[in-house]
Amino acid sequence: MDLGLHGKVAVVTAASRGLGYACAERLAREGCRLAICARSAGPLAEARAGLEGLGGEVLAVAADLACGPDIERFLADIAERFGRIDILIVNSGHIAYGGLEELDEAAWQEAFQLLLMSAVRLSRGALPLLRQAGGGDIVFLTSATIREPPPHLLLSTTMRLGVAGLAKTLSQAHAGENIRVNSVAPGYFDTGRVAARIDALMRQERLSRAEATASIAGDMPLKRIGTAEEFAELVAFVASRKAGFMTGSTLAIDGGRGRSIL
Ligand SMILES: NC(=O)c1ccc[n+]([C@@H]2O[C@H](COP(=O)([O-])OP(=O)(O)OC[C@H]3O[C@@H](n4cnc5c(N)ncnc54)[C@H](OP(=O)(O)O)[C@@H]3O)[C@@H](O)[C@H]2O)c1
Repeated sequence: MDLGLHGKVAVVTAASRGLGYACAERLAREGCRLAICARSAGPLAEARAGLEGLGGEVLAVAADLACGPDIERFLADIAERFGRIDILIVNSGHIAYGGLEELDEAAWQEAFQLLLMSAVRLSRGALPLLRQAGGGDIVFLTSATIREPPPHLLLSTTMRLGVAGLAKTLSQAHAGENIRVNSVAPGYFDTGRVAARIDALMRQERLSRAEATASIAGDMPLKRIGTAEEFAELVAFVASRKAGFMTGSTLAIDGGRGRSIL
């Protein structure tokens, strides 16, 4: 499907690998000009090379999303290079697992900065550049677990529900400026910690990749883990004007794992 995104300026954060990179790659294939960030310079340079190989212009900036000045610098570089933003995909890194008695003050502060304040700073800083483009789309990547929170994801659930509140509020406040705001909430995908868990099961239990994956996917109706490409397809659609009547929505993509109806 041609999503009509050719020439648009798309920003994807935390995008040197995993779900963020898959989203950037999908948007590059649509002909978007891209701005990406992550902390480590090496993987970021590899990501930029991969995306440039698809034919597009790519700005890659080493930035820590838990750090306000880094986000300001990233946005300033985007303003200087492109002068506008059409699409902002807000992704971030992983945070600590644990329940109330396992998480100290530092873990809460880190999660606050990385998950919630990065979303606040990115959307606030992007607003003038979205306006410069005559409107645009913000998509926050959260987690399907915010609807049915497991005990060990206390930080993720608490901060990401804040992001969901931010998304809903912004969708109402800025609809009149032609700015749509939605969230996409992933279940299990073959990246990051899930990929590491599969590798660990293969080593520890002497399972094949298919067996290790099946043991994680066992409680999913579709009986498999999603691919990053499947996730990126949905994000690109939501960020496009093909989804033009959708704002303030959260879409879960989780292989049917969630049991709530809405
Ligand atoms: N995969 C899943 O099944 C799943 C499910 C639900 C939610 N999520 C959430 O989705 C997000 C992405 O997950 P993923 O599986 O794609 O992770 P991943 O494969 O580990 O990739 C994480 C990306 O984020 C970057 N990053 C990490 N911390 C950062 C920071 N402080 N500042 C800037 N960039 C940072 C990493 O680069 P650097 O390390 O170089 O910075 C990397 O590019 C995470 O927040 C995760 O909790 C994932």
